[in-house]
Amino acid sequence: MYYPEELIEEVRMKNDIVDVISGYVRLQKKGSSYFGLCPFHNEKSPSFSVSAGKQMYYCFGCGAGGNVITFIMEYENFSFQEALKFLADRAGVKLPEIEYSKEAREKADLRSTILEMNKLAAKYFYAQLKASQGEVGHRYLRERELTEETITAFGLGYSNKYSDDLYKYLRTKGYSEDLIRQAGLINTDEKHGVYDKFWNRVMFPIMDINNRVIGFGGRVMGDGKPKYLNSPETLVFDKSRNLYGLNRARTSRKSYFIVCEGYMDVIALHQAGFTNAIASLGTALTSGHASLIKRYVNEVYLTYDSDEAGTKAALRAVPLMKEVGIAAKVIRMEPYKDPDEFIKNLGAEAFEERIGKARNGFMFSLEMLEKNYDMDSPEGKTSFFNEVADKLLTFEDDLERNNYIEAIAKAYHISFDSLQKLTAKRAIQKGLAKQVSRPRKTVSREKEDGSLKSQKILLTWMIDSKHLFGVIKKYISPEDFTTELYRTVARLLYEQYDSGEINPAKIMNHFTAEEEHHMVASLFHTKIQELTTKEEKEKALLETILKVKTQSLEEATKKLDPTDMVGLQQLMNAKRSLEDLRKLHISID
Ligand code: UTP
Ligand code: MN
Repeated sequence: MYYPEELIEEVRMKNDIVDVISGYVRLQKKGSSYFGLCPFHNEKSPSFSVSAGKQMYYCFGCGAGGNVITFIMEYENFSFQEALKFLADRAGVKLPEIEYSKEAREKADLRSTILEMNKLAAKYFYAQLKASQGEVGHRYLRERELTEETITAFGLGYSNKYSDDLYKYLRTKGYSEDLIRQAGLINTDEKHGVYDKFWNRVMFPIMDINNRVIGFGGRVMGDGKPKYLNSPETLVFDKSRNLYGLNRARTSRKSYFIVCEGYMDVIALHQAGFTNAIASLGTALTSGHASLIKRYVNEVYLTYDSDEAGTKAALRAVPLMKEVGIAAKVIRMEPYKDPDEFIKNLGAEAFEERIGKARNGFMFSLEMLEKNYDMDSPEGKTSFFNEVADKLLTFEDDLERNNYIEAIAKAYHISFDSLQKLTAKRAIQKGLAKQVSRPRKTVSREKEDGSLKSQKILLTWMIDSKHLFGVIKKYISPEDFTTELYRTVARLLYEQYDSGEINPAKIMNHFTAEEEHHMVASLFHTKIQELTTKEEKEKALLETILKVKTQSLEEATKKLDPTDMVGLQQLMNAKRSLEDLRKLHISID
């Protein structure tokens, strides 16, 4: 931690959460809270709430939540330190410079220097496009039917034919060769010395969600190779965490994104009114991209090239999306190659129609699978359906699986029962344990969630009601929480309780590492079933306390040194009190 907690708390307190968030989201007061449309996912009715009393926000739709610092981290894509600095400036609090570690400051400086250079380079390319030496690039873009408005909106540019003019330009602005190299804007080799990475290309600046230029794509004029050249990864350019067009698509207020392959496709779609189009940055779509998309929408329309590579890419994307809970549909562009060509030839309305006709991603993958089998021969058909059954096993939800069985039965003219039986048979053959073919990571994460959920619920109750805290405190101590992070949070909460003021927003100041900070935010917002009667509440409370206590004893048993007689005795006592607790009626009066 670089700053003392009191200073962080001062910054937090001087930035009222309702004030700050109002600058980003239209909030309306309802009771003691404020509500608005969540900026972190796409929605039509407000489920994003801000509590003035607790100085915390929470979205019931997507689960985003935290204090004012968390909000700025999330919204501006800042680290904890950057968010703190931003809020300190906003409130006129001076942060001592020296508190940064040298290394952290250098890295932050380098990041902002690269961003500065990128911005200058983008402006430079843009100016070249508009100047006489950029005529060739400008004409090219016009030939591809981009309007001046679109060119400006996307900040398109042109890199000159000379091989080092951007380099020279940035040098006159005072940047060293080394810095320009770290921005990925130059290359060096023995024959040519230092030269611009991009020359004689139309340039596509790549923006992050906050409209900062993080890298470039450049398309060659004519048929040269490579057709598209992209910036290398740099300190500010992480291809797996950014998507082209996302800065615009995220505010399109549509409930789905259109995912395509290239820069030109995104731009053509936006120009035609499909402002929710995005693309990956010259790489295949990854599960990281899928999680990023999931922050905004629950549905995507994949519109990849009509060729074999595009089809393969779509087939790979469908399960990636499904894995994070996004429904994928596939739009086909035939007889054209990609959305850009399609729209140029048939127009926006025809594209809208294709959206309407998009095929369910899973059914699409079966259609493609079918091509690998000779469906006229009984053997071919059998093998095909075996593979279909295997794919069906990836659905964990019975209802969802049965819906697909029904759809497949209808499409392939076989009976629902026989496909269902075949699926069950394949499940047994493959061993029931393998029935759910999900990556291990997810499974273990869910399992962990299961056993930690009660601890989270307890924490939520404790911050919700001081009275309940008092009841819980009789039975549970911070040491009963089984992970380091939860224990620390509990310890801080118990301290606050003893000093008379429960303040979860303040506790969050303690956690300055991004990952931890977000985990703690989620701790305070575990969904609790609505409990209406007092009896229900008391029963739920007792059950939760018992669960947490049981887990705590299990942990302690695991850790106990068998020769530790005193420890053993203590554990036995604790187990006995747990049995007593089972019989107890907890009263919340
Ligand atoms: P395509 O070759 O399908 O390009 O590559 P496109 O967008 O239709 O290009 P135009 O219409 O001829 O201008 C799709 C995407 O793959 C990446 C780029 O991101 C491109 O937009 N790509 C392609 C590269 O990174 N390098 C290449 O050499 C080719
Ligand atoms: Mn194209």
